[in-house]
Amino acid sequence: MADYFEAINLSKIYKTRNGDAVIVDDFNLEMKRGEFVCIIGHSGCGKSTVLSMIAGLNEISNGSVVLDGAEIEGAGPDRGVVFQSPCLLPWMTAYENVALGVSQVYFHATREERHQITEYYLTVVGLGDAMHKKPGELSGGMQQRVGLARAFALSPNMLLLDEPFGMLDKLTKFELQQVLIDLWNRERLTAMMVTHDVDEAIYLADRVIMMTNGPAARVGEILDIKLDRPRDRNEIMASEQYGRYRDHLMGFLEERSGHGAAA
Ligand SMILES: Nc1ncnc2c1ncn2[C@@H]1O[C@H](COP(=O)(O)OP(=O)(O)O)[C@@H](O)[C@H]1O
Ligand SMILES: [Mg+2]
Repeated sequence: MADYFEAINLSKIYKTRNGDAVIVDDFNLEMKRGEFVCIIGHSGCGKSTVLSMIAGLNEISNGSVVLDGAEIEGAGPDRGVVFQSPCLLPWMTAYENVALGVSQVYFHATREERHQITEYYLTVVGLGDAMHKKPGELSGGMQQRVGLARAFALSPNMLLLDEPFGMLDKLTKFELQQVLIDLWNRERLTAMMVTHDVDEAIYLADRVIMMTNGPAARVGEILDIKLDRPRDRNEIMASEQYGRYRDHLMGFLEERSGHGAAA
């Protein structure tokens, strides 16, 4: 079976006064449909650059991205994006923020069907009682729940997440990881998530993609996470296998440190 997603020699070059700045050079990755990968690497290596090119929000300098049999061109609702800061429209309620995307993607559905979809996802992420509040009335964690509801409600071919829980406290982050993985377990969307947290990567991913330091960053190593799903956080963290995965990932980052902190 052909891969569902393919990044082929994906590269990003910025023209600067001092010549070409090659940020990402020949990033290659294939993913099966329904796979969840996490990308880790040092701060500034080019993780967000890779993700934003796949999202169609940052021009691809060289190479290409193929998703579900077609080369991507620009942004589109076939890719759901969740950033570190939730990017909600502040004058709209959580419900309206999700409904906006839903009515664009499900334009052929009835008003009632669109309402059902919007309400369903907001309820699943735990906002059943808060969906008519505006972002300003919601905590950071709750805003990010809206972001997840919005991304999943559009039934995208691929989910792209860039450190979505990076600004949350530990407890909220654990809650949101649970919301994300519960949704993913139901829908098995093909997902790519950038994180600087190796524990988060092991908990969520089928494979962890380790990027080399920039400039000219690319895929360095790939680690398969062979832990059964659904995963119980405490159970897996107590296993020997978990320690080996963690050592491997930390080792990769430490070998390349001296280049700023891992982020
Ligand atoms: N317009 C630009 N011109 C030159 N370099 C840039 C530009 N935008 C970003 N960069 C560089 O690209 C590199 C990768 O950035 P980024 O993808 O945000 O890293 P990460 O997400 O891994 O922390 C950084 O070193 C940054 O300085
Ligand atoms: Mg980044």
